[in-house]
Amino acid sequence: MNRRDLYRFGTIALGSVAALVLAVPGVAYLLDPLRRKSKQGDFAPLARLSELQVGVPKVVSVIEERQDAWVRYPKEPVGSVWLIRQPERSKAPVIAFTTTCPHLGCAINLSADGKSFYCPCHTSRFDFSGKRLNDIPPRAMDSLEVKLSTDGDPWILVKYQRFRSQTEEKVPLA
Ligand code: FES
Repeated sequence: MNRRDLYRFGTIALGSVAALVLAVPGVAYLLDPLRRKSKQGDFAPLARLSELQVGVPKVVSVIEERQDAWVRYPKEPVGSVWLIRQPERSKAPVIAFTTTCPHLGCAINLSADGKSFYCPCHTSRFDFSGKRLNDIPPRAMDSLEVKLSTDGDPWILVKYQRFRSQTEEKVPLA
């Protein structure tokens, strides 16, 4: 190898290293949003246990920070949940249902007498365990996973999800 070849080889090698140094962070930057885990579907603190009375449903909003591949949006309400505290020694201290009606997606309210859930769109009715009280909805209310934090007055942590409407099966939406 003569001096000119050595010079050419050195230039190519240095150029390749420089290109690599610039390319690695660039590729990492472009791929980063795709690697980041979405916040949706995580357990979110919705209320303190002490805020609920046994057997009395309370509706709470779910606030989430949405994020797509490259944009992070400000926190905003994405849905709401019915929480019902259960009597002591029940299997679960609190049960939660999405307020979205499994019939066609309207919001489920309390009935006028406050003794059941009622959807005003097509009169679906449910009891406080989420069971159907008429044949209008295709399935029971959609229950959500609940955990309690371990503080003195625990937070009720709920995994908020959406489900397909008009199906007998409870099918989570991505
Ligand atoms: S959407 Fe609730 S009854 Fe139809």
